[in-house]
Amino acid sequence: MRFHSFAIAALVAISEATTPDVLHRNKARQNATTASERLGLEWLGGNSSLPKVLILFTGGTISGGSIYGALDDTQYGQLSITGETIISRNPYLLNHTQLAVSNWTTDGNGSTGTNDALVMNMTRFAHDALCSPDSDIDGAVFTHGTNSLEETAFLMDLLVNCGKPVVGAGAMRPWTHLSFDGDANFFDSVMLAASPESRNRGALVAFNARILSAFWVTKLHSTNPDAFWSTAGGDLGIFINSLPVFFNSPSQSLWKHEFSIAHVSNHSTYPALPKVDILYAAREFDGKLVLDTRANGADGVVIAGTGNGGIPNGSAQIKEALDSGLQIVVGTRSPYGPSSPSVKPSYAKSGFLHVIQARIMLQLAIASGMGMNETIGLFEGRFRTAIGQEWTPGR
Ligand SMILES: *[C@@H]1O[C@H](CO)[C@@H](O)[C@H](O)[C@H]1NC(C)=O
Ligand SMILES: *[C@@H]1O[C@H](CO)[C@@H](O)[C@H](O)[C@H]1NC(C)=O
Ligand SMILES: *[C@@H]1O[C@H](CO)[C@@H](O)[C@H](O)[C@H]1NC(C)=O
Ligand SMILES: *[C@@H]1O[C@H](CO)[C@@H](O)[C@H](O)[C@H]1NC(C)=O
Ligand SMILES: *[C@@H]1O[C@H](CO)[C@@H](O)[C@H](O)[C@H]1NC(C)=O
Ligand SMILES: *[C@@H]1O[C@H](CO)[C@@H](O)[C@H](O)[C@H]1NC(C)=O
Ligand SMILES: *[C@@H]1O[C@H](CO)[C@@H](O)[C@H](O)[C@H]1NC(C)=O
Ligand SMILES: *[C@@H]1O[C@H](CO)[C@@H](O)[C@H](O)[C@H]1NC(C)=O
Ligand SMILES: *[C@@H]1O[C@H](CO)[C@@H](O)[C@H](O)[C@H]1NC(C)=O
Repeated sequence: MRFHSFAIAALVAISEATTPDVLHRNKARQNATTASERLGLEWLGGNSSLPKVLILFTGGTISGGSIYGALDDTQYGQLSITGETIISRNPYLLNHTQLAVSNWTTDGNGSTGTNDALVMNMTRFAHDALCSPDSDIDGAVFTHGTNSLEETAFLMDLLVNCGKPVVGAGAMRPWTHLSFDGDANFFDSVMLAASPESRNRGALVAFNARILSAFWVTKLHSTNPDAFWSTAGGDLGIFINSLPVFFNSPSQSLWKHEFSIAHVSNHSTYPALPKVDILYAAREFDGKLVLDTRANGADGVVIAGTGNGGIPNGSAQIKEALDSGLQIVVGTRSPYGPSSPSVKPSYAKSGFLHVIQARIMLQLAIASGMGMNETIGLFEGRFRTAIGQEWTPGR
């Protein structure tokens, strides 16, 4: 792994605070005793004994409006509202929580979902705010466009791991719609992040009165407000009277690996992540596509394989790509079920992990300095143990 000077500066800034802007900020907040003071968060709501929920605002449909009237739920985006306005639409929230907004919007350079650097910066900020020893914050909600909400939720799940809830919030309809779903989803998300019951369950998504695990969640419907479901594991709970009701005591996926945020930020791609593409397999799959991703600068590729992780063609090109250092993970294009381990692997099968999540885990694996063999262990280890099919490189 190459060690980038930019990454040195940022890591030192996190731990020892020596960059000019951090020095300046620390001078202004030199007597800060809490993360809130140190990060300059301003809490809304008058009752200081209520839980503090940080609102990471990235926009998304939840802040989008339409000039085409109250029926439009596809052509919106001409109007927008701020995180503060979403809170003011939901005044009941401040009877239950204190809220502080932190903006993570992009002005004209693509949405949050298209920008790894921005999402990683937000994740580092969330980790600092929630997990530092001086943290006085109970949980966080991030608003997000629903198209890539599961990507950011999964990234947070693997990187923000001090037991405090991080909840993804979004909407399928704009606020100008006659049946905007964003207010209820936002309220539910905040109540979920504020609840002590939500601790030690990993990152969560609150959508259409469902409580979902970020590890398993995917967008299964492109327009319906009931868009988010789990590929495995089912719902964790439900909202009744807009309060979270869990079905089981806290648990985490056995397949989850927690990465160190400092370690993944120590990679040459800082502040972003290594380039990993997704290819979708079908009859006449062209193995040259795998080589093309390498030529185009990818460090890894996830292939949505057929059935239980099959690839119809291209084995010679896949071998050539592996030899060139490209890391490959093969999942399934089926919405449910695994891509299970091969007897003698040369690349990783994704197990029950959805290809969208598999891409992010591969990015983090590469950023952590793992090679193909370690990545195989990362994706397949638990599965192999469960089915009595252990594997050691070289055997
Ligand atoms: C910080 O604390 C020191 C020592 O208690 C005090 O002298 C100083 O005035 C404080 N500075 C600010 C900005 O409050
Ligand atoms: C503040 O919140 C606490 C905890 O819910 C509650 O007991 C108290 O009555 C609230 N105070 C005010 C002034 O609303
Ligand atoms: C919220 O608090 C206000 C007073 O601050 C009170 O009038 C109102 O009834 C409360 N609403 C709910 C839904 O608890
Ligand atoms: C967030 O951005 C909005 C829109 O620019 C702005 O009105 C608001 O004050 C910002 N909030 C914070 C906490 O910076
Ligand atoms: C978008 O990014 C480009 C290049 O990084 C920059 O020059 C431009 O100012 C950015 N535009 C906005 C609106 O931020
Ligand atoms: C991410 O944070 C780094 C370090 O503060 C900064 O240089 C970079 O511009 C940020 N990138 C985005 C997209 O916010
Ligand atoms: C970052 O990389 C340097 C050089 O490889 C290493 O010494 C250091 O321990 C790494 N830090 C973390 C947090 O991984
Ligand atoms: C499929 O693989 C065979 C050899 O294994 C090759 O001749 C053929 O061109 C491949 N087809 C495609 C579409 O890659
Ligand atoms: C994986 O392990 C095998 C057996 O030890 C070795 O031949 C191969 O080079 C390793 N691959 C990588 C990418 O390190």
